Amino acid sequence: MNLKTDEKNETVKKIKVEDKTRKLDNDIKNCERSLIIIKPDGVEKKVVGDIISRFEKAGLEIERIRVLEIDRSLANIHYREHVGKPYFERLMNYMTSGPSIIMIIKGENAISKARELMGPTDPSKAEKGTIRGDYGSDITINAIHGSDCSESAEREINIFFGNYL
Ligand code: CMP
Repeated sequence: MNLKTDEKNETVKKIKVEDKTRKLDNDIKNCERSLIIIKPDGVEKKVVGDIISRFEKAGLEIERIRVLEIDRSLANIHYREHVGKPYFERLMNYMTSGPSIIMIIKGENAISKARELMGPTDPSKAEKGTIRGDYGSDITINAIHGSDCSESAEREINIFFGNYL
């Protein structure tokens, strides 16, 4: 199939940008991406700015960001590993209860740095000064999600940002 000249030029431009991004990523040691969701309770509490600032102060970059009211079908895909758990229905109701902020954060050891900043899943076990320790209410309503490993990050980034990787 013949591509029209503009389409060809667009494809060449896209490949060049992707090559440049890859080169810049290689310049950062252990460069990783993580998919972060500031959940509906975090948005409602108006702590989005504070949370983003914590990532930035830790040296991480916000690469993509969007505001999204997650619907049940998207929530089901994202949390497929939790289907059938006793808390699943409450988790679905919570995640679809209002807008979330969805971000790709990038930087050196982004996944473990983000997990440290967030604290454990259960806010009652999280230290003050961590995001969940400061803003989470209980083990389900816990303010924020972050990818747990690079395979999950790739899957989750694809769910919310299309074939971005
Ligand atoms: P998150 O980090 O987004 O990953 C899965 C989510 O399911 C988790 O945060 C909580 O919101 C919820 N969750 C995980 N484990 C439990 C549990 N044992 N009881 C209740 N909710 C849970």
